[in-house]
Amino acid sequence: MSDFDMIEKIGILRKKRNAIILAHNYQRPEIQDIADFTGDSLELSIKAKNVKEDVIVFCGVSFMAETAKILSPSKTVLLPVADAGCPMADMIDIKSLRELKAAHPAAMVMCYVNSTAEIKAECDICCTSANAAKIASKIPRESEIIFVPDANLGAWSEKQSGRKMILYPGFCPTHVRFIPEMIIKKRSEYPSAALIVHPESSPDVSALADAVLSTGGMLEFARLMPYKEIIVGTETGLLHRLEKENPDKKFIALCEEAVCPNMKKTTLAKLMLSLENMEEEISVPEDIRQKAEIPVLKMLSYS
Ligand code: 13P
Ligand code: SF4
Repeated sequence: MSDFDMIEKIGILRKKRNAIILAHNYQRPEIQDIADFTGDSLELSIKAKNVKEDVIVFCGVSFMAETAKILSPSKTVLLPVADAGCPMADMIDIKSLRELKAAHPAAMVMCYVNSTAEIKAECDICCTSANAAKIASKIPRESEIIFVPDANLGAWSEKQSGRKMILYPGFCPTHVRFIPEMIIKKRSEYPSAALIVHPESSPDVSALADAVLSTGGMLEFARLMPYKEIIVGTETGLLHRLEKENPDKKFIALCEEAVCPNMKKTTLAKLMLSLENMEEEISVPEDIRQKAEIPVLKMLSYS
């Protein structure tokens, strides 16, 4: 079947199922283009909470679809590829989290949205890369903070908020590819370019950037700042939107190999089959969902 035919069929099925297609900024270009809404994790959570349609097809990774289900339990949430996961989210299990909590019984637990529903259910407040420092600064000063699972985002929020954190040693395999030498090389090739990186990058990389931003923040930076050339340190899927929305500007990937294989699993064919067969339906046990909803709603109330 050609792409053209699949796009047509997806359009028909989307109406038939009364579905909305949500896509993360790292999805393949053709998926971003067909989606009803493309955004960063925070924007997607807000959108998922307020959808009118009966079905949410989430083109992203499993924790995102789970978060949509946590926030909109009455909707059918589909993840087109069942094994599109996030290796960082899988780096922490419930046993390790409970051990950490037991070692710091008075600490508040802040979890990155890149975590399973089961982990969220054990945490006090959630955050995304767009609001981590702001959320940390809302936690009472006298309280210790445990941050899971991304040590790099945790370190960045620690620096921005001035709050000391107990960091769990998780990381994003895609963003830790960035190393300072890449920055030095790109800066010498494009001396007048701005250089922006995602806070999942390691602290020595973030320290060398002009701005450290979520993917939504990067899109805003590109739109509002006067730079004609921008070096982009995040998953390369974001370049599609950056280029589409800013045709007069040049975007350079900090590293062409910074690709998240899980984000790229969703294809037009998988999306079409998902709508056709109503697969893979995401379910979260109701007791876990209710507990996981608390930190996510708390985050949204501060956003
Ligand atoms: P944001 O789009 O929220 O910046 O997140 C990046 C990411 O890695 C999602 O998995
Ligand atoms: Fe997870 Fe990193 Fe992929 Fe985001 S880019 S989904 S954090 S592995």
